[in-house]
Amino acid sequence: MSKEVSSVEYGLEKIFEGAQDFLPLLGTDYVEFYVGNAKQSAHFYKTAFGFQDFAYRGLETGSRDQVSYVLKQDKIKIVLTTPLNSKSPINEHIVKHGDGVKVIALWVENARSAWEETTKRGAKSFMEPTVEKDEFGEVIRSGIYTYGETVHVFVERKNYQGTFLPGFVANKTDYNPSPVGLKYIDHMVGNVGWGEMNTWVKWYEEVMGFENFLSFDDTQIHTEYSALMSKVMSNGNGRIKFPINEPAKAAKKSQIEEYLDFYEGSGVQHIAVATDNIVETVSQLKARGVEFLPPPPQAYYDDIPNRLGKHMSMMKENIADLQKLSILVDADEEGYLLQIFTKPVEDRPTLFFEIIQRMGAKGFGAGNFKALFESIEREQEKRGTL
Ligand code: FE2
Repeated sequence: MSKEVSSVEYGLEKIFEGAQDFLPLLGTDYVEFYVGNAKQSAHFYKTAFGFQDFAYRGLETGSRDQVSYVLKQDKIKIVLTTPLNSKSPINEHIVKHGDGVKVIALWVENARSAWEETTKRGAKSFMEPTVEKDEFGEVIRSGIYTYGETVHVFVERKNYQGTFLPGFVANKTDYNPSPVGLKYIDHMVGNVGWGEMNTWVKWYEEVMGFENFLSFDDTQIHTEYSALMSKVMSNGNGRIKFPINEPAKAAKKSQIEEYLDFYEGSGVQHIAVATDNIVETVSQLKARGVEFLPPPPQAYYDDIPNRLGKHMSMMKENIADLQKLSILVDADEEGYLLQIFTKPVEDRPTLFFEIIQRMGAKGFGAGNFKALFESIEREQEKRGTL
């Protein structure tokens, strides 16, 4: 793979000059899920998705009311947290939403100023700047609410040498399935309620200094039955990208509406994780039991040379391999991208994952929206929620 199109390099350039820098973000720090049974979730993310043991906090480390398993794969850290008694407020989150993403933690140089700058611009505080210490140094964290009950936690770790955070111990067990090549979080998408997309676009602009760099309306994102609208927000250096979706009126129920019904409110819809070799990564995920959306029809694959146009000559993947694995392909001016979506990873049709390989393209697969949403609708039909 040439350097110009390496997906790992993407995102580190300053591409959005208009965005403000009162909130410099170094990257995603971790994503914390509130789940009903963290021990079993950790087994699933290790076995199925190739995450590795990293850190732990629980009864054995003196945490009496909650337990967390931290797993890692390349730059991605996920935290799986479960309450240890009925009094923990985490229970309310799980009862209402089911398993889902509570915290999108952002790595910052200065967690105090991140909290001050965002709360003074109207953010509701989740956690005042708090210093946590152990023998490896100190971490300062602060946090604000975003859509629904989801929060952003700012993590300042420049004076910390420990594994994860004070209170956690490094964790290593004898069960270590191999990684599958997931590298970093490319983007995380939020679903918000009817008519709320622009409210949250404005919130990310005003409170976080983000910029809206791509928009899709319901004339672009629709099928025969359903529709949605989406705007992509990015921070100044392009490392953090949060598309925001809202449902739109159509003949049948939008997938966004289905999410809102089952999550009982706004929340994280999908986490897109990047790989450098999607054919290998998806082959492994399938062998390990990860379920993906069903493939688009034959005509979709026949049309790939048209879709890729001038980028067809640089395409390294074999179309038959992509079709065998149901991987989707899209292109923009700068290159192409390969992507695929899992089925929801819990019983409520809420959170799912996207696997993406960028070969120069900076978009989100708009050319695939129709094929993708038709696949989702076939699944909705089975669930009786279309
Ligand atoms: Fe996506």
